[in-house]
Amino acid sequence: MNTPMLGKLAACGFALIMLQSCWEAPNTQSTQTGFRGTGMIDTKNDKTLANLQSLNRIPEAAPVPADTGPGPKAKDVFENVQVLGDLSVAEFTGTMVAITSWVSPEEGCTYCHVAGNFASEELYTKAVSRRMMEMTRDINSNWTDHVGETGVTCLTCHRGNNVPEYIWFEQDGPRTAAGMSAKSYQQNHAAMNVGSTSMLSDPFSKYLSDEPAAIRVIAQNALPYKGVDAISSTQDTENTYSLMVHMSESLGVNCTACHNTRAFTSWEQSPPARMTAWHGLQMVPELNKTYLEPLGPTYPANRLGPLGDAPKVSCATCHQGVSKPFYGQSMLEDFPAWKGVRDE
Ligand code: HEC
Ligand code: HEC
Ligand code: HEC
Ligand code: HEC
Repeated sequence: MNTPMLGKLAACGFALIMLQSCWEAPNTQSTQTGFRGTGMIDTKNDKTLANLQSLNRIPEAAPVPADTGPGPKAKDVFENVQVLGDLSVAEFTGTMVAITSWVSPEEGCTYCHVAGNFASEELYTKAVSRRMMEMTRDINSNWTDHVGETGVTCLTCHRGNNVPEYIWFEQDGPRTAAGMSAKSYQQNHAAMNVGSTSMLSDPFSKYLSDEPAAIRVIAQNALPYKGVDAISSTQDTENTYSLMVHMSESLGVNCTACHNTRAFTSWEQSPPARMTAWHGLQMVPELNKTYLEPLGPTYPANRLGPLGDAPKVSCATCHQGVSKPFYGQSMLEDFPAWKGVRDE
């Protein structure tokens, strides 16, 4: 081998060594979750784990136990209590302290109340909270197929923020230059919502709002498509994948948490989490339709989206990167007011 050749080889080697420091060692741990050879593997990144664990720790707070003894109820004592009237005065007051720490720890009671007049309905935040209270109780009593006994509280979505970190609005898609490709149909622009892929950037309006589109795209029989009413287009398929990427990212799991990837469509071969996810896919559009969307007129303009719609919920609003919010730790024993409407 001549010297210039050796030089080139050395340069290549050097470039490779330099490049190697550009990509991050993935540091992943993989766990086999199914039969050997079926590719049923769950991978987790050690580096993101510590951050997720600290985000999903429930802060210490004084519990507010159910108080069902004799004594006046909140609705008998206060002027304007429409949702939590079934609580005792002590439980009601404890609940106010708890929601303050979950939703407006910096601002305190006056985030929702006019100082000196707690019955006043002046602040929009109070009206919104009242609907949120009804929603929280509805989730915990009517959507147990999804939230199980774990349930949710205001903290699940808010985590100490006035506005939950993960909300969504309808999108027009990014602006494009005028001309033949003036409309991109929200495609071909890498979007954070869908794991930086360039598929449909807003799967939410399509699958998670009032009239959710059908998700199933895989034909059940080979050509010719006998007995299949509508043959899904490539775009329908991409749209489904956008939603699936959102679901995986929201829960911090691989597709294999819910599918055996040799047959995405087959329920028999899917892990049980897919059924829980299916209930979630029924719940989220209902929550948006019943509670979040109708709040539009209640919010000030700065809370609305670019197209004027109200902020809405996705899988990430509760899950925030883990397969069960707070790793499945329940708060309902400490805060039973949120279990549902109490029998009188
Ligand atoms: C995140 C919003 C929010 C915060 C923060 C909040 N509240 Fe409330 N509060 C409400 C809502 C909503 C109602 C009405 C509940 C209902 O209709 O069942 C209410 C009702 C009340 C009432 C009954 C008033 C009446 O006469 O009708 C009192 C008293 C009260 N809150 C005290 C407090 C105190 C004290 C704090 C701070 C420790 C506080 N609240 C923090 C939302 C909030
Ligand atoms: C399933 C998720 C979820 C739960 C549970 C939830 N919220 Fe919300 N909340 C939202 C979303 C989404 C918004 C809209 C965000 C915005 O205002 O931009 C919101 C908005 C609010 C706002 C308006 C904040 C603002 O500054 O505009 C208040 C106040 C509020 N929630 C209180 C509560 C209270 C109190 C509870 C518990 C009884 C609760 N929320 C439970 C999702 C949730
Ligand atoms: C948290 C659970 C979950 C995860 C993670 C998940 N899926 Fe799904 N997937 C579902 C559910 C539930 C359905 C069925 C929805 C329905 O039928 O309404 C589905 C449906 C599908 C379908 C349509 C199947 C058919 O019958 O046409 C495809 C394709 C698909 N998923 C691909 C993926 C891919 C690719 C990933 C990873 C990027 C993924 N999924 C991650 C739960 C999940
Ligand atoms: C209102 C909050 C909330 C929303 C929104 C939500 N989830 Fe969940 N989800 C939960 C809770 C709480 C649990 C834990 C249930 C339990 O402990 O049994 C859970 C559990 C799950 C599980 C089971 C995980 C496991 O390891 O067994 C899956 C899968 C799941 N959710 C998928 C989804 C998908 C997909 C969406 C969006 C379509 C979604 N969730 C939206 C609250 C929520």
